[in-house]
Amino acid sequence: MLRQPLLVLARSDKVKRFVETMPVSSGIVSRYVPGESAESAVEAAREVVGTGRLVSLDFLGEDTMDRAQADATVQAYLAVLSGLSEAGLTPAVEVSVKLSAVGQALSGDGHKIALDNARTICTAARNAGTTVTLDMEDHTTTDSTLDILHELRQDFPETGAVLQAYLHRTETDCRELAYAGSRVRLCKGAYKEPESVAYQSKDDVDRSYVRCLKVLMAGRGYPMVATHDPRLVDIAGALATRWERDQGSYEFQMLYGIRPTEQQRLADNGEKVRVYIPYGNEWYGYLMRRLAERPSNVRFFLRSLATKG
Ligand code: FDA
Repeated sequence: MLRQPLLVLARSDKVKRFVETMPVSSGIVSRYVPGESAESAVEAAREVVGTGRLVSLDFLGEDTMDRAQADATVQAYLAVLSGLSEAGLTPAVEVSVKLSAVGQALSGDGHKIALDNARTICTAARNAGTTVTLDMEDHTTTDSTLDILHELRQDFPETGAVLQAYLHRTETDCRELAYAGSRVRLCKGAYKEPESVAYQSKDDVDRSYVRCLKVLMAGRGYPMVATHDPRLVDIAGALATRWERDQGSYEFQMLYGIRPTEQQRLADNGEKVRVYIPYGNEWYGYLMRRLAERPSNVRFFLRSLATKG
């Protein structure tokens, strides 16, 4: 119930300025974000890979309204990709990219700028021996993001997509993307969306998730089951068995800091498990979405704010 109000509150500049005074090392931030530097990201990735899990690294930032900032984000991805390659962590570690962080929201030719920037990151990822997945943001960006995905896949067919089960359109999008070689991460969706485009109740979102999962598991692509929901994890396993999918022909994905024991249990059972690790100093939007998903975190968060630590 707290989810929508918290996401609305998160848009307030006052709240943002106040929360951002917290250090990344404070408990509530470091639970979800291991650090701000590329080195801390590579280190966190190394630890996770050492336990038999895979990683997708996300350089935090979104809604960039300035060209220089978009270019800086591209440079940050190039630097971390080269660090990963030097550390011998590719292909176990790939990167996730938000198109709004590389220029999609810029007025005028934002779509083209984001496409060119994503292409630069895909080239560097391929040279480093790994892949890129395009994160999905709010529904106003879905068409542009899927268009960019289609263009990128002509040269980089390994590029992953994300679809959000809370959107009414997603079952159809799953059908279109369930082709051989297509990597699709299915998540519930983390933004505040209107009733006209998205299911609002948890039950409706969960039911949509199962319908989408059925399409992806029955299809010829590579489903990436991104959820911490125990029921959906079980259903994904049952669907994989029903469609005679081998372990490794799909994967589970969870966020850094959430249900780590379950991540390890799945990996120890032979499943492919990928941990999404965000890093960087633009952690505010990411943190607020995680808090909104877990109202019981909010009291802890307010206490952390009060003590700033
Ligand atoms: P749900 O929120 O119902 O949680 C199920 C259970 O998981 C909870 O009962 C609790 O035990 C645990 N849990 C969930 N969230 C928690 C939290 N914050 N803290 C502690 N425990 C928690 N969204 C999006 O819109 N675009 C995107 O590109 C992505 N990308 C993405 C990648 C990966 C790898 C994951 C796992 C998720 C995303 N998401 C995303 C986020 C996703 O849409 C969704 O908001 C979260 O995963 C939470 O939904 P669950 O499916 O985990 O279910």
